Amino acid sequence: MPADPSPVPPADRPAPARLAQAALADLPWQVGVAKPDPALVVDGVTRTFGGLTAVSVDHLEIQRGGITGLIGPNGAGKTTLFNLLTGFDQPDTGTWTFDGQSLGKLSPHKVARLGVVRTFQLTKALSRLTVMQNMLLGAQDQNGESFLKALVPGTWRRQETANTERAMELLTRFKLDAKKDDFAGILSGGQRKLLEMARALMSDPKVVMLDEPRAGVNPALTQSLLGHVKDLREDGMTVVFVEHDMDVVRDISDWVVVMAAGKIIAEGPPESISQNKDVVDAYLGAHHDAPLTNEEEDRVLAEAEAAIAREEGVPTGASPAETLSSERTGSHRSATDGTDTTR
Ligand SMILES: Nc1ncnc2c1ncn2[C@@H]1O[C@H](COP(=O)(O)OP(=O)(O)OP(=O)(O)O)[C@@H](O)[C@H]1O
Ligand SMILES: [Mg+2]
Repeated sequence: MPADPSPVPPADRPAPARLAQAALADLPWQVGVAKPDPALVVDGVTRTFGGLTAVSVDHLEIQRGGITGLIGPNGAGKTTLFNLLTGFDQPDTGTWTFDGQSLGKLSPHKVARLGVVRTFQLTKALSRLTVMQNMLLGAQDQNGESFLKALVPGTWRRQETANTERAMELLTRFKLDAKKDDFAGILSGGQRKLLEMARALMSDPKVVMLDEPRAGVNPALTQSLLGHVKDLREDGMTVVFVEHDMDVVRDISDWVVVMAAGKIIAEGPPESISQNKDVVDAYLGAHHDAPLTNEEEDRVLAEAEAAIAREEGVPTGASPAETLSSERTGSHRSATDGTDTTR
């Protein structure tokens, strides 16, 4: 039997974690490119605040079983996009689906129940509750059925026991088990981030969206935190995470999506991103202080010389500007050894 040339795993089998990378390897580095096995599909999502367009995403697909890094300068719209996709905010326009099911207009509880959870840029661990209470509250939040269940005592107790066991399992995994009875308020910033991630996992999600999980985490905890993010992929989850440090993005992501001023301006494998001119411009500002290109320099010079010539009454046909300009071009090229210095 001939080998299947397609890198795409059969649709009826969940893509094993690292296969995500292979599946994405041959895709064109194009904004909106279709993924072989998308878990999330976003279409025409916009959100404005007054006159400001915070998010305007035409089309985005997030590959199942992979880690997608979402990057972009401050104010690019990353958190707003997370808020929209997880039901914490409502868009002006647009639709998005998880596994083909529309998530639009659903509350965060319902989105979570369908398998899509998120953590926050600023942690939302409740300081006056213990670590364990935070975890159990997370389970309630995400189930969204606590009130109904509470009316049926047997069910509720069984559920609570299961939740407590699950919470202990996760706290052990995140090395927070010894702190289960401590108030969340006395945890370090890093431990709170871990608690938030652990809490998000209480509902066995399929997609986990992490908004700057490393923010406020001291370097000693960073490695273990990134290890936990990679473990999510090993467990078959789809991860989208916001991160500013390009070294971390390169280390951890299978695919990178770049936002600027609300739009997606680039997507591709991590190594493609730092070479992308639009991305460099977005981070540095489109009109940063880079030297003019040869062409720009020649044009500016020619315009200036033409203006001087006009003022001095030199006829434009036999323009000294042209002569000067071409001489200048020649010397410029030879000085730079003919190399194109275009950014
Ligand atoms: N509730 C709001 N009301 C008004 N403007 C808002 C609101 N939320 C976000 N914005 C604006 O929308 C834009 C996008 O903000 P957002 O927080 O999504 O950016 P971000 O990419 O997450 O930035 P950062 O990297 O700083 O976290 C910003 O200009 C922000 O000021
Ligand atoms: Mg943000």
